[in-house]
Amino acid sequence: MSSDFSALRRRFPVLERKTYLNSGSYCALADSVRAAIESYMDDRLLVGANWDVWVTKNEAVRVAMAEVLRVAPTEIAVTASASAGLNALASALDFSGRRNKVVVSDFEFPTNAQIWHAQERRGARVVHARRAADGYIPAESFASLIDDETLLVAVTYVCFRNGAKLDIPGIVRLAQAHGARVLLDCYQAVGALTVDVRALGVDFAVGGMLKYLLGTAGIGFLYVRGELLPGLIPSDSGWWAQEDIAAMDITANRPAGSARRFEAGTPPVVNCYAAEAGLRIVLEVGTDAIEARVMELSRRCLEGLEEIGWPAVTPTLDPRRGPMVAVPARDAAGLCARLMQHNIVTSFRDANIRATIHFYNSPEDIDVLVAALRDARAEFHPGC
Ligand SMILES: Cc1ncc(COP(=O)(O)O)c(C=O)c1O
Repeated sequence: MSSDFSALRRRFPVLERKTYLNSGSYCALADSVRAAIESYMDDRLLVGANWDVWVTKNEAVRVAMAEVLRVAPTEIAVTASASAGLNALASALDFSGRRNKVVVSDFEFPTNAQIWHAQERRGARVVHARRAADGYIPAESFASLIDDETLLVAVTYVCFRNGAKLDIPGIVRLAQAHGARVLLDCYQAVGALTVDVRALGVDFAVGGMLKYLLGTAGIGFLYVRGELLPGLIPSDSGWWAQEDIAAMDITANRPAGSARRFEAGTPPVVNCYAAEAGLRIVLEVGTDAIEARVMELSRRCLEGLEEIGWPAVTPTLDPRRGPMVAVPARDAAGLCARLMQHNIVTSFRDANIRATIHFYNSPEDIDVLVAALRDARAEFHPGC
């Protein structure tokens, strides 16, 4: 494990030019990720189609992803996106009986609500846990929604709009009391926080490699708890989901015994190179050390914002906060553009700008952001 954060910072060249607080949209590019993509290019030029190596890259991503989530590689499907994993899982669920309810929350990224609403044609009923007056959704808000007719509770770990972190153990307890399964969309957390899916008690998890996992777009994962695999046969399938890919059998569907049954076609080879290299960095630094660093930096940011009289909308309690600090603005797009003029990269959703923090950020990055916001206060603070 390496936690020399100054040395690690030097592996992300964009940090020399930018105050990069945008890992919740797209991570900074590491030297080793770039080198991995270049080695794929070398393969294309020198070998042509290097399938024997390429297949092992897909497996390397599976193994590394399993290590990040602290599960077995047989419980991981390497997918083209988080959405692809959700669709494959949804296709294996049966909504035709009495237990056909899906509970989502107001904090969902659209895809983790839209895909469940798309199952209404197959009998699903989708209900939403609403945010309370203080903007948060405590586990108790799920209590009146989760019942014996609930098939699945599909919730985000960290909200992409405001950085709030849901009480997953509390939600899992409610679900388990009624025999419902829990799916965790951990895209806005995994790589920046420890996501130990077994300790959390969730049955399924989805995410992808372009944010805190330091890889690239076009590759994601679905975790399925091993005990559930035999009972889940996806109709969203393909030749790479078969038990024996090489059999080329066109007379039947014979899904793999492992979570690979949730994959579909040819893996995204170049993305596997980038994803493996990104996951290696996360594993090298260690998610516990990363989480401690990220929480310290986000706390510094919240305190700095309080000091300039511009408090964040992100919960201040550590257990309720992910790697994001969301700041309300009169014109969030305008503020994001203004910060960009100062080489500070953020993003915006709703009426907030989002500073999304990884281990390669420094206390100075946070101070630069807070100072720029102090200067922009008169123009962009919602109360001014
Ligand atoms: C929480 C969350 N879930 C899902 C997604 C979408 O993932 P994908 O585009 O891989 O389907 C995102 C993307 O930003 C996200 O932030």
